[in-house]
Amino acid sequence: MKGHLAAKPVKKANSNHFLSDVISISDFSRQTIELVLTQAAKLEKMPREKKAKILQNKLVATLFLEPSTRTRLSFESAAQNLGAKVVSLSEPQTSSLSKGESFSDTIKMANGYADIIVVRHSFDGAARRAAEVCTKPIVNAGDGANQHPSQTLLDLYTIYKEFGKIDGLKIMMAGDLKYGRTVHSLMYALSHFKDVTVYLYSPVGLEMPKYIIEETKNLKIHQTNNLEKFIPNVDIIYATRIQKERFPDELEYQKVKNAYVITNELISKAKKGVKIMHPLPRITEIAQEVDSTPAALYFTQAANGIPVREAILSLLQDVKK
Ligand code: CP
Repeated sequence: MKGHLAAKPVKKANSNHFLSDVISISDFSRQTIELVLTQAAKLEKMPREKKAKILQNKLVATLFLEPSTRTRLSFESAAQNLGAKVVSLSEPQTSSLSKGESFSDTIKMANGYADIIVVRHSFDGAARRAAEVCTKPIVNAGDGANQHPSQTLLDLYTIYKEFGKIDGLKIMMAGDLKYGRTVHSLMYALSHFKDVTVYLYSPVGLEMPKYIIEETKNLKIHQTNNLEKFIPNVDIIYATRIQKERFPDELEYQKVKNAYVITNELISKAKKGVKIMHPLPRITEIAQEVDSTPAALYFTQAANGIPVREAILSLLQDVKK
C-alpha cells in the first residue's frame, strides 16, 4: 500500500518540555534530542528493579501495520523493561482492518485501551493522522517513506556513544535516499548540530528529495552518484537498503537493486576509525565480511534501540495532550 494521508501539524512541546507525540524529528529541537539521549544513558545504568517501576500499571499498544523486526521487538522489550504490559497487532490481516475498518477507527479503539500507542504504517502521514484522532501519546515507528524518528534518536545515541559528539562530524548517507525514511529523519536531526558535513550517495533516480535539502540548509551537503568519491573524507558511512516495497514499478527496482556494496576493500580506502551504520535489515549492501571488522557498528546500533525506546516511552508517560 502506498499513499499519503492528509494531516495537520500537532503541538510541539508541552509543560514537561517533551513532545505530546513523537511523530516527526522535525518537531524536535536540539535540546529535546539531547533530553532523550541523556534519559537513555540514565536508563542504561539504572538497576533493573528500579526501571521496572517507571511504567508499572501502564499499557503500551504496538500497532505494526507494515513488517518490522527491530522496531517492534525493541519497543515491546523497552515497554516491558519499564514494567508496562504490551498488547500488539502485527498482522493486519488478522485484525478488523481486513474487514474494512478504517485506520482512524482502529486508532480510536487503541486509544480506549492503552496509555501509549506505537504505530507503523505504509502511508506517509499516518502517524500524524493517528495523533489527531487520539488523546494518548502516539509514537511514529515509521510512516511510509516519510519519517522514522525513534530510529534517528537511536542513531544519534549510537554516534554520541562512539564519537562523544555529533558536532563537526562528516557523515555519508548511502543507498535509497529517495524513499528512505531513516535518512530523511537523520537529515533533519543532524541539521540541529554544528559544522556537520553530509555526503549523499545514491544510485541515479534515488536521490534525497529536494525539499529535504532545502529544509536542512544548516548542513554542508555534497551529492554524488559515485560511491568512492567521498569515502576518504568521512567518519561514518550510513548505509541503507534499496527498498523494493517502495518502488511503484518493480522494473525500476530491478535496475538498481545491487547498485552498491560496502566491502572491506572499500573500507580500506576510508579514514582510520571509520564506522559503518545501517538501520537494518541489510540485504546485499554491506558484505558479510564487514561484520567482523571494527568498522561494523550496525548491530550495536540496533541494540541501542532498547535504551532509546525506553527513554521515549518514559518521557511520554507524563505528557498531557
Ligand atoms: N530499522 C528498522 O526500522 O527495522 P525494522 O523494519 O526491522 O523495524
